[in-house]
Amino acid sequence: MRPPSYKAVVDEFAAAIRSGALPAGSRLPTHRALARERRIALATATRVYAELAAMGLVVGETGRGTFVREQSGFDGLEPSRALPVPRTADLSFNQPLAPGQAGLLRQALRALAATGDAEALLHQHPPGGRRRDRAVVATYLLDRGIDAAPRDVLLTGGTQQALDVVLRALTRPGDVLAVDALSYPGIRLLASAHGLDLAPVPVTPTGPDLDALDRLCRDRPVRAVYTMPTVHNPLGWVLDREQRDRLVAVARSRDCLIVEDGTYAFLDASPPPPVQALAPERTCYVAGLSKNVASGLQFGFAVLPAPHVERVTRSLRAAAWGAPGLVTALATGWLSDGTVTRLECDRREDAAVRQGIARAALDGMDVTAHPSAYTVWLGLEPHQRPDHVAAVLAGAGILVSTADAFATGPHRPQALRLALATPPVGQLPEVLRHVRAAIEAIPP
Ligand SMILES: Cc1ncc(COP(=O)(O)O)c(C=O)c1O
Repeated sequence: MRPPSYKAVVDEFAAAIRSGALPAGSRLPTHRALARERRIALATATRVYAELAAMGLVVGETGRGTFVREQSGFDGLEPSRALPVPRTADLSFNQPLAPGQAGLLRQALRALAATGDAEALLHQHPPGGRRRDRAVVATYLLDRGIDAAPRDVLLTGGTQQALDVVLRALTRPGDVLAVDALSYPGIRLLASAHGLDLAPVPVTPTGPDLDALDRLCRDRPVRAVYTMPTVHNPLGWVLDREQRDRLVAVARSRDCLIVEDGTYAFLDASPPPPVQALAPERTCYVAGLSKNVASGLQFGFAVLPAPHVERVTRSLRAAAWGAPGLVTALATGWLSDGTVTRLECDRREDAAVRQGIARAALDGMDVTAHPSAYTVWLGLEPHQRPDHVAAVLAGAGILVSTADAFATGPHRPQALRLALATPPVGQLPEVLRHVRAAIEAIPP
C-alpha cells in the first residue's frame, strides 16, 4: 500500500480536531512516531504538523510536544451555544462531509487554476447567475423531477438566501405565511426579518394536517405556504402523492404561493414528484448544495414561476447578487461531471447507516425519523425537560437542539432533535448511548 500523501494526513487530523474526536489539549504523537505510524518521511511528518499549526489547529510546545489547540469558534455555529467543556460531539447541526472531499476540492481548484480563462472568475456574474450556469442546474434538476427553463432558475448564495429573496420579493410585511408547527428554524428568522405573520399548521408524524391548512387558508389571507414535502426537517416525513395533490388543491383554491424547500430531498432515492412539478405556476422551489456537497460552499438556487423571475432577481440584486463566481465554477463543475450525484448516493447510504445506529441506540424510545434522513426527532417523558437534558449533555460536551428551535407556534413539544451527520460515524454509537443515559438518569 502506498503511504498516504501528507495532505491526506493533514485532512485526517483536521477532521478529527474539528469534530471533537481529538479534543483540545490532546497530545499528538512525536514527529518521529507519526512518521513511523504512517510510513512517511520524518520531514513529511514535520510538514504535517507545520501545516496544522498554520491552520490554527495545533500548537508545538518546545520540549513538550504537539497539542490540539482550543477551538473557540468550533463550539457549534452560534456563539451563544459555547460549551462549558471541550466539545465531544455536535448533534445540533448537520454538516455531512465524506472523507475524500478535501481532495476533491484540491483537484477542482487545480483544474480551475489550469483553465485558460481564469480571469473570467474575476468578472462579476449577473444577479442570479450566467445563463450557462443556470442551465447546468436546470439539467441537474431534471433528475429531481423538475423541468425548468434556465431563465427561471436563479443561483444564490445558499438555500437560505434563496428563501430570503423569494420572501422579500413576493410577500409584504403583515402577510400570513403558513408553516408546519415544527419546521426549519431559518424560516422563523426570515418571517421575523420580513415582518411576516407565521401561522402554524398542526403536524402529524406523516405530514401536516391538510384539513387544518385548508381551514387556515379559508379563515385568514394566507399569502404563501412553506413546505418540505420530501425528508422534512425535523420530522423526516415524505408526503405521498395524495398529500401533495391535496396541498396543491388547497393552494390553488385559496390562491396561495407555495415555497417548497428541497434541501434534504436528495436523501430519498425515489420520492413522489416535487410539488413544483405538480403546480409550477405557483411554486418557488429552493434547494442547494449544503447537505449533499458541503455546507461551507453556500451554493443554492431558486426555481420560479416565470412571472416572478424579474421581481426575485431584483431582490437578489439588493442582496448579494447571488452565488460568487468561484463557488459557481466549483458547483457547476461538480454538477456536470456527476460528482454531486455520486456524493448524494453515498450520503443516502451514510445517512441510512447513521439512522440504523440511532435506531439501535435509542431502541424503545419515542423516535420519529425517515430511514435515510440525517435527523431524529426524539420525544421525551413529561419529567425529562428538553432544556434540562440539553444542558446536561452540553456539560458532557454534546450539543443537541431542543424542540423550541423548531416550534413555529406557542406549543413547544417535549422533544429533542438530534442531527446525526456531523460526528464521525464510528463515534456515533457511543455519543447516542451517552444521550440515552443522560435522559434516563433524570428521576421521575
Ligand atoms: C430545511 C433547510 N432549508 C434550508 C437550509 C439552509 O441551507 P443553506 O446552508 O444552503 O443556506 C437548511 C440548513 O440546515 C435546512 O435544513
